Amino acid sequence: MPGTPTHTPPVPDAQSCLHAEGPRLSPLVWGAWRSREGEETGTPAKLARFLDGCLQLGISSFDHADIYGDYGAEALFGQALKEWGGKRSALQLVTKCDIALLSPQRPGHVVKHYNTCGDHIIASVEQSLRNLGTDYIDLLLLHRPDPLMNPDNTADALDRLLRSGVIRHIGVSNHNPSQVRLLQSRLGRPLVTNQIEFSVTSLAPLFDGTLDQALELRMRPMAWSPLGGGGLFTGATEQARRTLAALEAVGAEMGIGDPGTVALAWLMRHPSRPVPVLGTTRLDRVRTYMQAAQLKMQRQHWFQILEASQGHEVP
Ligand SMILES: NC(=O)c1ccc[n+]([C@@H]2O[C@H](COP(=O)([O-])OP(=O)(O)OC[C@H]3O[C@@H](n4cnc5c(N)ncnc54)[C@H](OP(=O)(O)O)[C@@H]3O)[C@@H](O)[C@H]2O)c1
Repeated sequence: MPGTPTHTPPVPDAQSCLHAEGPRLSPLVWGAWRSREGEETGTPAKLARFLDGCLQLGISSFDHADIYGDYGAEALFGQALKEWGGKRSALQLVTKCDIALLSPQRPGHVVKHYNTCGDHIIASVEQSLRNLGTDYIDLLLLHRPDPLMNPDNTADALDRLLRSGVIRHIGVSNHNPSQVRLLQSRLGRPLVTNQIEFSVTSLAPLFDGTLDQALELRMRPMAWSPLGGGGLFTGATEQARRTLAALEAVGAEMGIGDPGTVALAWLMRHPSRPVPVLGTTRLDRVRTYMQAAQLKMQRQHWFQILEASQGHEVP
C-alpha cells in the first residue's frame, strides 16, 4: 500500500532531487510571496532582472501559490518571465492551491477557508498556468491540510493533472505525518515533498515527527520562512536575540560573518536535507545566502544553536 512502504524507499539519484522520482531543484529556492512589495521585485521589469540574477547565482527554482500577493504574484512573475525571455526548461516552477482568501479578487468568498475538492484544484491549476504563462508546473503542493478533504476525490484530481502532464510532480505543505500518509495512501505517485515552516526559531518539525517522516519516505522537505520571516534579525523576541548571538558566535568560529547564512547552514545540516525557500527581495542577500549550500556545520555548533534557540541544553 502506498504510504506504508514495506521496503526502504530508493535514495534520490542526484544531490539536487527532492525525491527519487524528482523533481531536481536548485540547492536553495526563491519564494515569490513578498515579490509585489519588494523594491527589486515589484514590477515585471525589475523581477525579470532579479530572476536573471537568481539564475546567475544558481537559483533556478521558484516557489509560488495562487494566493500570493492577493492572487497577483503569479501573474507578476508570468509577466517577468516574458520580459526575461529565456527558456522555460531552465526553471522549475512550484505552486500551491487550496487556501481560499477573503479578497476583492474573489468576491464569492465569505470566510477564509480551504478547498481540496477536485474541481477546485483543477480550476486553480488552470488559473496558475495562465498567470505564469506556462503550459506545465514542475511541482504542485496542497497548501494546507483541509479538514473536509475527501482523499479519494482530491487524489483523483491530482492523478488526472499528473496524467495530463500539466503538473509534473505533487507534494503537500504544512501537513502532519498522518495527513501525508492518508493522502499518499490514495495516490498512484509519490508525494515528493512537504513544505514546512522550519528554521532556527521554528523547531517543531524536529520533534513532532515531520522530519522523521521525511527521512523515512526519503522525501526532502522544503523549509519556508527559513530566516523566521526576518524576525531573526529584528530582535523582537528573547528567543531571536539568543539565537542571533549564537549564530554570530558560531559564524565567527566558521569564518562566516553573516548570521543569516549560518542559520541556513544550520537548517541544511539536518539529514533530511531541507531545501530553504528564501523570501528576501534583495539580490545582494540572495548572493550571500547561497554560500550556505557550500557549508557543513559541525555537530557541536549545530547543538550550540539549538540550545540557544530552546533556551536550555538538551536533556
Ligand atoms: N507553504 C507555506 O505555507 C508558506 C508560508 C510562508 C512562506 N512560504 C514560502 O516561503 C518563502 C519565504 O518565506 P519568508 O519570506 O517568510 O522567508 P524568510 O527568508 O525567512 O524571510 C524573508 C524576510 O526576511 C527579511 N530578511 C532577510 N534577510 C534579512 C537580513 N539579513 N536582515 C533583515 N531582514 C532580512 C527579508 O527582507 P528583504 O526582502 O528586505 O531582504 C524578508 O522580509 C515565501 O516567499 C513563500 O514562497 C510558504
